Order: sequence, then structure tokens, then C-alpha cells
Amino acid sequence: MLIGITLYTKQKQKIMKQFKIAVFVGSLRKESYNVKTAKALIALAPESLSFEIIDISSLPFFNEDLEATPPQEWLKLREQIKAADGVLFLTPEYNRSVPAVLKNAIDVGSRPYGQNSWNGKPGGVVSVSIGNISGFGANHHLRQSLVFVNVPAMAQPEAYIGDASRLFDDNGNLTNESTKEFLKDFALAFEKWVETNAK
Ligand SMILES: Cc1cc2nc3c(=O)[nH]c(=O)nc-3n(C[C@H](O)[C@H](O)[C@H](O)COP(=O)(O)O)c2cc1C
Repeated sequence: MLIGITLYTKQKQKIMKQFKIAVFVGSLRKESYNVKTAKALIALAPESLSFEIIDISSLPFFNEDLEATPPQEWLKLREQIKAADGVLFLTPEYNRSVPAVLKNAIDVGSRPYGQNSWNGKPGGVVSVSIGNISGFGANHHLRQSLVFVNVPAMAQPEAYIGDASRLFDDNGNLTNESTKEFLKDFALAFEKWVETNAK
């Protein structure tokens, strides 16, 4: 009888386990397709993942001279990263690379030297573009930085969302069924990735 209760409790704890995911979006635009995609993905993801979109819009530019008395925004960002079990990036492509605002967040989180907040956090990358190359360049430039800050980024499925202006209705809801299916599968794979790799 006691064993039965213990097993039930263990099983229930496993079901209730939630992983905190910090979400970073590389666009500050009000009508951003990356933000809309992030929201759609969050809505389609399993309940075992809880998400917070981190505001990086007013993060001061990284400047090593400020490290002695770091801006509050830097300290807050570093704590938000450390508190997460995993990190998810949605990025537009700017001139075949990652927008400055996102790269800045990566740089701020990686310092001070020896105190890299990103270290070991399992990650995911989604690129979203109005073009049909689907942000491939940004997606892979981002992955290059993630290797260095030791974020193991899920390899498959890759997520390149192209022709983004055709996927949403006027209220910003994702209406394209195959993209919905894809994001659902992506979120399921990401859940497994985080569960396997979270510390
Ligand atoms: C400065 C700038 C550079 C851009 N460069 C690219 C590019 O290299 N490749 C691409 O597919 N789209 C490029 N675009 C178009 C963006 O993909 C498009 O504006 C996209 O909607 C931005 O994402 P958002 O809707 O989340 O803001 C560029 C846009 C801007 C503003």
C-alpha cells in the first residue's frame, strides 16, 4: 500500500514538472512576425514548458568599461537567464545576420568574464522572415554565437519560417495550418531537448 502511494506521488511529480523557458525575440517592431510566431509557438507548446518573453528593448549596449558598475538592466537580464531551464530564440534576418538587439543580449549575458549566464542552458532557434530564404543566415549566425556561450542548440527540427506576412490574420493570429503543425512538433521536440539537457 505504501509503495503504491509512493509510486503515485513520484508519477504525479513527474507530470507536474515544468521547465522555465526564457524567450528572446530579435525584433522590437510592434507588428513583428517574430513576436507573433513566438506567441503562436507558446500557445501550441506542451504545458510542461512555461515561457517568458524577455524584454531586451532597452538593454544598454554592452561596454566593458561599465562592468565595474553594471547597469541594472544587465544584472536583471543575467538573473533572468540564470533562472531559466532553457532558452528559445526567435530571430529576423538583418542583412544576412542577427539583429544587433539580439546579439547585444547574448553579449551582455555572456559577461563578466568567467560568469557566463548562458552556460549550459539548452536552446532552440527559430528564424522568421518575410522572404523565402526564411532567415537562414541569421539562424546560423546565431548558432555560431550559441556554440561559444555554450548553449547546446537543438539541431532538429530546424525552424525556418518564411513568407511570414502570409501566415497571420489581421489580429496577429497564426492561421496557416501547416505552420501550426510544424510549431507544435517543434515545441514537442524542444521540450524533450530541455528535459534531457537541463541542469
Ligand atoms: C535592416 C533590415 C535588414 C533586413 N535584411 C534582411 C535579410 O538579410 N534577409 C531577409 O530575409 N530579410 C531581411 N529583412 C526583412 C526582415 O526579414 C523583415 O523585415 C521581417 O519582417 C523582420 O522581422 P519582424 O517582422 O519580426 O520585425 C531586413 C529588414 C531590415 C529592417
